[in-house]
This record gives sequence, structure tokens and C-alpha cells, in this order.
Amino acid sequence: MEFLYGKQKDIKVYPVFEDQLNGDTLVKLSEKKLFEGKKASFFSLLDVEGKGEVYWGLGKAEDLKTNNLIESFYKLAKELKSKNLLDVGLVLPQTIKENETYTLKSVEGLLQDEYKWEDYRSEKSDECNLVVSLDVDEHLQKEIENLDNVLNGVFITRTLVNIPSNDLYPETYANRIVELFKDTKVEVEVLDKAQCEELGMEAMLQVGRGSAKEPRFIIMRYLPLADTKEHLTFVGKGLTYDSGGYAIKPATGMVTMKCDMGGSASVVGALYALAKNDVQKNVVAVVAAVENMISGDAYKNGDIIGSMKGTTIEIGNTDAEGRLTLADAIYYAATKLESKAIVDLATLTGACVVALGEKVTGMVSNDDSLANLMLECSQNADENLHRFSVFETHREQIKGKFGDLKNSTTGGAGSITAGIFLEHFAESKPWVHLDIAGPAYFDNAWSYYPAGGSGIPVKTIYEFACRY
Ligand code: BES
Ligand code: MN
Ligand code: ZN
Repeated sequence: MEFLYGKQKDIKVYPVFEDQLNGDTLVKLSEKKLFEGKKASFFSLLDVEGKGEVYWGLGKAEDLKTNNLIESFYKLAKELKSKNLLDVGLVLPQTIKENETYTLKSVEGLLQDEYKWEDYRSEKSDECNLVVSLDVDEHLQKEIENLDNVLNGVFITRTLVNIPSNDLYPETYANRIVELFKDTKVEVEVLDKAQCEELGMEAMLQVGRGSAKEPRFIIMRYLPLADTKEHLTFVGKGLTYDSGGYAIKPATGMVTMKCDMGGSASVVGALYALAKNDVQKNVVAVVAAVENMISGDAYKNGDIIGSMKGTTIEIGNTDAEGRLTLADAIYYAATKLESKAIVDLATLTGACVVALGEKVTGMVSNDDSLANLMLECSQNADENLHRFSVFETHREQIKGKFGDLKNSTTGGAGSITAGIFLEHFAESKPWVHLDIAGPAYFDNAWSYYPAGGSGIPVKTIYEFACRY
């Protein structure tokens, strides 16, 4: 997609609200019931030369929601492409034009239709580049460029999640990240298994023990500020595959477990956008990239393992592996880096999907102001987020019988207990945990999300990093 500004085009596209049918043409069209602005309706007034106007229904302005705007314009882009109307001038209605947020949400919708993932198809669909001329001021032109970069970050996340685990495992994942950031201001450091051993990352290494693919610990540094070393730290769960280990998952639950590095993929996407947009905030991202498998040497249900912090952990369930890899990654962030605050993202618990549904992210935090900022950012990003309350009874649940903590709990509230397990390793730093087990990956396409990796919550954490 390409945006031009202030260029006249032979085809003008008029998105129209149902309750704002102004002007002779629209009044006549609606009297004849040819076009009434109903949501996702299309009407063409093109001549044989292919010149003229087309109309696109937005439904009622009265019901306007930013998320619906994204969806409407996503569908509009699809409609234009399917009708081969690829070089158009977009005339936004006043209600959208006078509101910067609405304008950007409309543009986002058009951009959302750009994502395709066909790397594993022998036959690719036709390339089709939509050129859209817009009439917006220079400030908004810059905002649109930034938004385009954020969405490219979202798309990078989707693709990383979509690549199957036979091609994306810790080593190749690290290589891809190095490649992605090669010509940017993000510095990437990759630690191999021996270096992780030296650091004492036992919890992470225990999870990786059963796999023929060796783990990697990846550190990405984006530090544009010269006067301070302090930074926000993102920690992303990076299970390139989660078979469950000896607590093996059923085939149906295992089949999409390439998505278990979704948290780390979203920090990669967000960092990419921050660097592209030259955002003046220090941000570092760390990922413990590991594969959870079975072998004669794998860790087992009933083992008691150590961790970088020294805390011992009873393995009630080898499928509760995410919190083990995150324990070391968060502890590393809290003690080896200049973290001012830590935000971890993880496809952590099926319990979160049970509690909130597959389209909502769950949050646990020890810091009200960071948690409130995250909620605000999620609303602006149209990505649904809910904060769980934590009670003393939840803290009781994670205490071990023979060791210090246990990785799997009874008594319910599985997403909260997983969250506070992680908090133990944040060393009282301001910390936010986002459980994206539901929204990181969708089995079926819906609204403007394709099937597969969704890129949630890249938009949220991008804004959070801009504002923290
Ligand atoms: N990766 C899964 C969580 C998950 C489930 C992600 C569904 C995406 C979709 C995680 O490692 C896991 O297996 N969690 C267990 C924890 C339990 C054993 C305490 C779960 O949720 O069942
Ligand atoms: Mn698991
Ligand atoms: Zn997992």
C-alpha cells in the first residue's frame, strides 16, 4: 500500500455514515434504496472509462467505535482490491476527518489488509498494490508513517508466530532476530547453552533438556538516550514449541504450540517499531528461547530443580514450563540489566482463556500506575485487556511442599498463580505480566485478524514503551 497526499485521482472513494447521507447524489441513491450507507455496502458510479465515484457504507456514526472503524476500512481495502480499483482518492467524511484518532484508525484498517503469509504455499496469490491519495496535514502524514511502522511490527510478530517449529527453533529464531535488526539501532546479543549454564539459568535449561535443539538467550538493546542507562525491559516467553514434555499434551492441544513463543515475538515486533520510529525511550528485550520436548534426559514430573535466583522449584507438571523459563529471564532482567520496570508477555496459561475468553489478555501487576497505563494503552490500541486482582490466598497456592515454590498449583485461579510465581523473580521491581495465551493466536480468521498469529499486543506495548 502506498499513500499519496493531495493528489487528484480518477476514482474517488466516499466512505459514508448511514445517518449522514448529505448531498444530492447520496439523497437520491438512498431514496431509490441503491445505497443507504449500511455497514459494508458498496455502490459504484464509475463510467466506462473507470472514472467517477464509489461509495462505502460505514453504518451509523451514532454507533461509532474505533475498533469498528478499523474493521470497516479493512473490509473497504478488500473490496477495492477485489474490484481491481487500485488507484484511488479517499474522501473521508467530516466526522472522521475532524478527529485525528478516527483518521488513524481508518488508515489502520486499510493497512491491516496488507498482511499475507504464504511462505509455505507453492502457489502465491497475485500481488496487488493499492495506492490511496489522502488529504491530511503534514502532522498526520508523519503519524501515518509511524502507524505503518507499528503495523509492520505487528506483521513481523504474526509471521514469527506462524513459522512452524521445524523451521523456527531457538538457534534459527535467534538468527532471524539478528538478521531483522541488522541495519537498525537495536543491538542483539545471543547467549548459547554454555553461557546460560555459566549464568546459572537452571530453570530455563531444565525445560530445554529434553530437546535436541539447544536453547538460546537473546538480548536486544535499543538505547537511544545518551544521558541514562536505565531502560524498560520486555521479557517474552520464547517456547518455540511446547509439547508439554512428560506431561504431554493431547494431539489437538499440541498442534498449535508453535505459537508458544508469541510473547517473545511481540516484543520483537514492538522493538522493531520503536527503532523504526526513532522513539526516544530506552528499551531492552530479553528472550529465553527453548523447546519443551521429551527424551531420556528430559526433566520430569516430580523433579525439584534450581533457578538462577537460587529458588528451588517442584515440578508438578512439565507442561507448566513457561514460568520456569521466564523465572530466569525475569531474574536476569531484574539483576543483570538496568531495568527500571519489567513487562513480561507470555502465552502462559489455558486458565486465562477459560477466565477471559480467547480474545482478551490477562494482566497481573505489582504496580498500580504501570498497570493503569497498560490498560489505557490497550484501550487506545483496541486490544482487550483485563487486570486480575491478587489475594494472599493466591500466594499460598504457589508454596512448595519440599522445595520453595511449585510450578503447578491446585485450587484454581491458574493465571493469577502463574503470574505471582513470576513476580517472585522480579526482585520487587515495578512489574507487569501479560498472559496472551488466548489472543496471540487465532485458529480462525475474525474481524481484521487473519488465522494464525495475531500480533496482539504489539500495538499496546508499543504505546506503553512510548509513554512509560
Ligand atoms: N503454552 C501453554 C499455555 C497455552 C495454552 C498457550 C493454550 C496457548 C494456548 C502453557 O505452557 C501450558 O501448558 N500451561 C498449562 C499450565 C498447567 C499445567 C499448570 C495449562 O495452561 O494447562
Ligand atoms: Mn506448557
Ligand atoms: Zn507453554
